[in-house]
Amino acid sequence: MAHGRITGWATHLPERRLTNHDLAEMVETTDEWIRERSGIGARHVDGKVTEMSTAAGRDALAMAGVDPADVDLLLLATCTSDQQFPASASVVQDNLGMSCGAIDMNAACSGFVYGLVTAMQFSAGGVDRILLIGSDALSGITDWTDRGTCVLFGDGAGAVVIERSADTPTLLGWDLMSDGSAAGILSCEHGGKIFMNGKEVFRRAVLAVEKAGRNALKRAGMNIDDIALVVPHQANIRIIDAALKRLDIPLEKAAMVLERTGNTSAASIPLALVDALNNDRVAPGDLVLMVGFGAGMSSAAAVIRWDPPRA
Ligand code: UT7
Repeated sequence: MAHGRITGWATHLPERRLTNHDLAEMVETTDEWIRERSGIGARHVDGKVTEMSTAAGRDALAMAGVDPADVDLLLLATCTSDQQFPASASVVQDNLGMSCGAIDMNAACSGFVYGLVTAMQFSAGGVDRILLIGSDALSGITDWTDRGTCVLFGDGAGAVVIERSADTPTLLGWDLMSDGSAAGILSCEHGGKIFMNGKEVFRRAVLAVEKAGRNALKRAGMNIDDIALVVPHQANIRIIDAALKRLDIPLEKAAMVLERTGNTSAASIPLALVDALNNDRVAPGDLVLMVGFGAGMSSAAAVIRWDPPRA
């Protein structure tokens, strides 16, 4: 039986870049405060989910050598669809010339890992080629007068192609969770702006990352020491540091793009994953732990064994 395997990847960031110094001219803040409290130096803004997703999806398909017309399913993880409906996935599907099912999935910042776990189940069920995209444009729902939130968020997209061509499973373990009782601490009403109780999100995020990571590893039958690379949701360096300490994983094992992207929600894990892949940080057979958390409160983790695309 064939299994799903990542065979192509790409990312896209919108052109407009805002540095911390730019933000210091908009609200009462400093580059030092933002770097020290979050680890962020710059972010890209003014993105559109359909445009960013189309660009990342097109490049990922080209890398995999897959004709868009041959894609069997498009999964787009986003919480900032360009419009209420139709799904942004339908627009992207048409932009790329695909003829297949297309859905948006909303698990906020955990969306890409939710999508990856879902895609792998479709692969196991016989679906040959899947395009999975994580894309968000948080700049459109950010209150640019609120220094407590506007310094954190940015826009971007990351895409992977999943083909049913591996001899053994590449997804070894996973964990998906939602705690809707905490939904009020991070939310955005239709037509509104992001509301966040930062301290409470921080506290819960550290615990959620640890729990999701441990659960996924347990399901995979693997130990912490087996992990070669962790790809954490890029929200705050202090959250990543605290969670990895609890997991007993050195920070050097983490893929990081936070400093130059900010928190890009569903795009954050694929942006960091692609950066690690492009910098040869993953060798064949390596175990990679992806772990995200976000509004919901949602959390998600996946342990994959890296089975690189064949030349
Ligand atoms: O995908 C999930 C999305 N969300 C998150 O991951 C966010 C999780 N939370 C966090 O990352 C952190 O809580 C923040 C970065 C948002 C805030 O860091 P903190 O260490 O929790 O700071 P704080 O909220 O306790 O604020 C400390 C001080 C306050 O001033 P006072 O009351 O001590 O005088 C704030 O008013 O810092 C002030 N402050 C700022 N100062 C300069 C808040 N934002 C800023 C700012 N620049 N941008």
